Amino acid sequence: MFHGQLWAQLLPVFVLVVGLFRLAVAVKHENFKTCEQSGFCKRNRAYADNVATLGESWTSPYTFVSNSIKIGSGHVTGTVLKSLGGDTPQSVQLPIKITFLQSGVARVTVDELKRQQKDIELRHGSSARKERYDEASSWALIADDKPDTSVKGEISQQETTVKYGPNNGYRAVINHKPFSIDFFRDNELHVKLNGKGLMNMEHWRPKVDKAGQKEGEEPKEEGEDERTWWEETFGGNTDSKPKGPESIGLDITFPGYEHVYGIPGHASSLSLKQTRGGSGDYHQPYRLYNSDVFEYEMDSPMTLYGAIPFMQAHRKDSTVGVFWLNAAETWVDIVKSKVSSNPLSLGVGGTTDTETHWFSESGLLDVFVFLGPTPRDVIEQYSELTGYTQLPQQFAIGYHQCRWNYVSDEDVKDVDKKFDRADIPYDVIWLDIEYTDGKKYFTWDSHTFPDPLGMQKQLDDHERKLVIIIDPHIKNEANYPVVSQLKSKSLGIKDKNNNLFEGWCWPGSSHWIDCFNPAAIEWWKSLFTYKSFTGTASNTFLWNDMNEPSVFNGPETTMPKDNIHHENWEHRDLHNINGMTFVNATYTALLHRDSSARRPFVLTRSYYAGSQRLGAMWTGDNLAHWSHLAASIPMILTHNIAGFPFSGADVGGFFGNPSKELLTRWYQAGAFYPFYRGHAHIDTRRREPYLLDNPYKEIITQSLRLRYALLPAWYTAFHAASISGAPILQPHYYAHPSDEAGFALEDQFYVGSTGLLVKPVVTEGAESVSIYLPPGELYYDYFTYDIHHGAGTTITIDAPLDKIPLLMKAGHIIPRKDRPRRSSGLMRYDPYTLLITLSPNGTAEGDLYVDDGESYDYQEGAFIHRKFSFAQNTLTSSEIETDTQSNKGKKRRNYLKTMDRVRIEKIIIVGAPKEWTKKTQINVEEDGEGRSVEMAFTKGDGKSANWAVVRDPGVGVGRGWSAEF
Ligand code: NOJ
Repeated sequence: MFHGQLWAQLLPVFVLVVGLFRLAVAVKHENFKTCEQSGFCKRNRAYADNVATLGESWTSPYTFVSNSIKIGSGHVTGTVLKSLGGDTPQSVQLPIKITFLQSGVARVTVDELKRQQKDIELRHGSSARKERYDEASSWALIADDKPDTSVKGEISQQETTVKYGPNNGYRAVINHKPFSIDFFRDNELHVKLNGKGLMNMEHWRPKVDKAGQKEGEEPKEEGEDERTWWEETFGGNTDSKPKGPESIGLDITFPGYEHVYGIPGHASSLSLKQTRGGSGDYHQPYRLYNSDVFEYEMDSPMTLYGAIPFMQAHRKDSTVGVFWLNAAETWVDIVKSKVSSNPLSLGVGGTTDTETHWFSESGLLDVFVFLGPTPRDVIEQYSELTGYTQLPQQFAIGYHQCRWNYVSDEDVKDVDKKFDRADIPYDVIWLDIEYTDGKKYFTWDSHTFPDPLGMQKQLDDHERKLVIIIDPHIKNEANYPVVSQLKSKSLGIKDKNNNLFEGWCWPGSSHWIDCFNPAAIEWWKSLFTYKSFTGTASNTFLWNDMNEPSVFNGPETTMPKDNIHHENWEHRDLHNINGMTFVNATYTALLHRDSSARRPFVLTRSYYAGSQRLGAMWTGDNLAHWSHLAASIPMILTHNIAGFPFSGADVGGFFGNPSKELLTRWYQAGAFYPFYRGHAHIDTRRREPYLLDNPYKEIITQSLRLRYALLPAWYTAFHAASISGAPILQPHYYAHPSDEAGFALEDQFYVGSTGLLVKPVVTEGAESVSIYLPPGELYYDYFTYDIHHGAGTTITIDAPLDKIPLLMKAGHIIPRKDRPRRSSGLMRYDPYTLLITLSPNGTAEGDLYVDDGESYDYQEGAFIHRKFSFAQNTLTSSEIETDTQSNKGKKRRNYLKTMDRVRIEKIIIVGAPKEWTKKTQINVEEDGEGRSVEMAFTKGDGKSANWAVVRDPGVGVGRGWSAEF
C-alpha cells in the first residue's frame, strides 16, 4: 500500500485520536455557568445595556436623602432611597455608612433596612437568615475599622463633601441625587462610584404569582423579567432561592487609568482585559466563584479556585484601588473607553478611562477605596486591612517534592535517599490522598504506610519535613470515628432542609465540616493532636485541597447555594470564604499542636482576601504544556500584587508528561516562584529530578541550588511581605510606576527588593530571550557579569537550556549562602556571601533578615535584621529594628549568641572601579578593631564588568562592621 493510501485510511483515526486527546485536556465548559446562565449576572449586564441604550435620558433611581445625613466619628451615615418608579412613588430604604479610616482608606457599606430588621418572608420554609450576610469582614479583615474621628464634612442640598486622608489631601464628594461618590486626591478625580448609574440593589419582594405564568416561562405581560428570580436550574441542579433576587451591582470608574490589575484567580493576563468583546478581548466578565475547574483553559476570565476581589488601577505615577468585600458569586466587567481631550482629535492623544462593573449575587454592598498614590501604598493599605503574609518557616520556601502519590513509606524513604545520592537539595516530601485508609482522613493505610513515624524520622535526619493532605469532605462510612463525631456534634454543613448535607468527593459519599462554626474549629484542633492523629510528628505539615468546596455531584462541581451554614447563613452568601475557613481551622490546629508554638504551614487551593495570613496557595491543576508554564508567571504576579505573594504553580505541570526540556525550563522558572513545588497527577510518569539524564539532571540541580543559595534573599523578601504586604515578586509597573512602556509587562519580574530581574524561558527550543530594561538603569548578568544598559527597549540575552535569564540591577546588595546542602535546615549556621552590584556612582544597598526559621521567638526580638550600604568605597553593616522594648529580652540575647559565630565568608563586588586594579588589601573594622584582609580584582573584558572578591572578611552576620575598599 502507498504511504498516501495508508495515510488516507489512517487520517480519520488520527483525527479521532487528536480529537479525543483535545477533549481530554479541555475544560468542560458545560459544567460552568456563563454570565447568561447565571441569573443575576445576566440581569446586571442587561441593566448596564439598558442604561447604555438610554444614554443621557437615564437617571439612576438611587438618592442619598439629604435630611438623613449625619457626619461624625469618622463616618457619614444616612439613607439611600431606591425609587421603584411607576405611578406610586414607592421606594426601598438602604442604610448607608461611609467610613473614613485613619489609614486614608474610605469604606462604603450599603445594607437593606427591611432585611436588617428581618422583616421579610422566606420561601419553601427555609431556615436561612433573613439579613444580608454581614460577616465577610470578620473573616477577611484583621483590624476593626479605625475611623479617623477628625474628618470634617459639609452637607449641602446637592452634595456632601468630606476631606480626609494624609494632610486632608483626599476628598469624597457624595452626590445626593442621583447618588454617586467621587473620590479626589489632590483635587483630581481618581475613582467614581455609580458614575455611570449601574448601581443595582435587588431588594427583597414577595413572590406574586402571575396568573397563567409558570416558573421560568417568558413573562406574558409588561414588567420585569422574573425568569431568574425565584428558582434557577443548571446542570440538573435546582437552586430554590428562598430569598428571591438579592444581587448588588455597582459601576466603579477609574478616570484616566488605562491599566487595571488584580482580582485573582484567573488564567489571564496581568493587565486585565476588556470583557465586553472586541478583538483580543473577552466576551465574559471575570468571574469570582471558587470552583474546582478541571483542566482549566488559558487566557480566560473563567473562575478558578480562589477569589480576591481587590483591583488596582494604574497610570503613570498614580495608582488607586478598590476592594469589593463580598463573599458571594461575583462577576466583574471591564471596559476601557478612550476619552478625547479635543473632540476633533478622534481619540488620538486622549486618555483612557477604565470602567468596571461589579456584581455579586447577595450580601452587602461593601467597597473600600484606596487612593495610593503608588502601587506600594495601595497594596500596603489593602494588606493593613486584610493582613500580611504569614512569615513562613524557612523550610517552606525551599523546594517541595510532591506527586499523587508516593505509594508507601518505603517509597518515600527511597525518594529521599535518591535525592541525597544525586546531591539534589529538597526540604519537603508530600503525600496525596492515597496515604489514607480508604480516603478517611486522619488515618494511614496500614499496608502501605505501616511505619509513618519511621519514615518521618528518616526525613528529620536531614531536617526534612512531610506534608500530608487533608480535605474538607469526611467519608460517610460506618465505624469511622471522625464522621461519627461530625454527626453527633452536628458540625457539618446542612442542606436546604437543615439535614446534614451529603455529596460525593474522593471517598464517595461524604459530609463537609462547617468551619464557620467555632465549635467545628475546636473539634478540628482535637483531631490534630499527636495522640489523636497517630503517625504524625512535629515535622508533619498540611495541605488543604478541594476546599472550594469541590463536590463532584454538586452544581458547578460545588455545593448547592441553598445549603445552610453555622448561624443559618446560606452557602450562597459566603461561598468564596468557605475555603479560607477550612484553612483557618487547620492553621489553628497546627498552632496548638506543640507545647511551644511553631509557625504552621498549610497549602490551600481555595482562598479569599485574607488567606495570605494562613499559608501558601498554588494555581491548581495545570497542564504539562508550555502555555501553562507561560501563564504561571502572570498568575503568580497577580497574586503577588493582590496581597497573596506566597504562591506557586505545579512545577512540571499536573496533567500529562512534560518533555525533558519543558521540565527543565519549569524547574528554572519555579526557582523563582515564592512557593516552589513539583507535583504530578497519578497517571503521569515519575519525574523526580534525579530520574533525568544529563544535561537535564545537572541543569535542574543547578536551578535548585540557585534557589537554595538565594534563600537568605527570599527569606528577607518574605519578611518584608509579612510586615508590609509587599509583593515578593514585583511586576514591572510596581517597580517602575513611571515607566509607561512596561505597564503591561507580565513575563519578567523583580525578586523583592534585591534588584534581581528574572525572565523565565517559557517557549520550546529557545536559545535567547528578549528582556525589557527601563531607561537609565544599569544591569549585570547574574552569571557572567555582562553589562547591560537600559534604554526603555528590549535587549536580547542568551538563554541556552542551561541558563536562566537573570540580571542584577546595579545598586543592590544580595545576601547568599554558597555551600550546597541537602536541605535548608542544614544551612542554618552556614556563612554568608554578600553580592554587591555597584551603581555607576559607586553605591549599593541591601538588607538581610534572619531568625530561627521556625518559632515565634522573632516576635520577642530573636532575629537579625541588617542593613548593608556601600558608599564612598566603604561597606557598612548596621542594625534595623532593634529599638523596641521587646527586642531587648532574653530570647534576643540567646538567639544572637547562637548566631555569634555565623560570619560573612565572601564579598563579591560587581562593577568594581578600575582604580582598584592594583588593590590587594582592604581594611575591615569590627567591634572597634581593625585588620586588613585580602582582595582580588578581576578586570572585565569590556562586555563584562570588573569584579572583586574579598575572601573571608570574617565579620559576624549579626554585628556592626565596616570594610573600607
Ligand atoms: C486535586 C488537586 O488539585 C491535586 O493537586 C491533587 O493531586 C488531587 N486533587 C488529588 O488529591
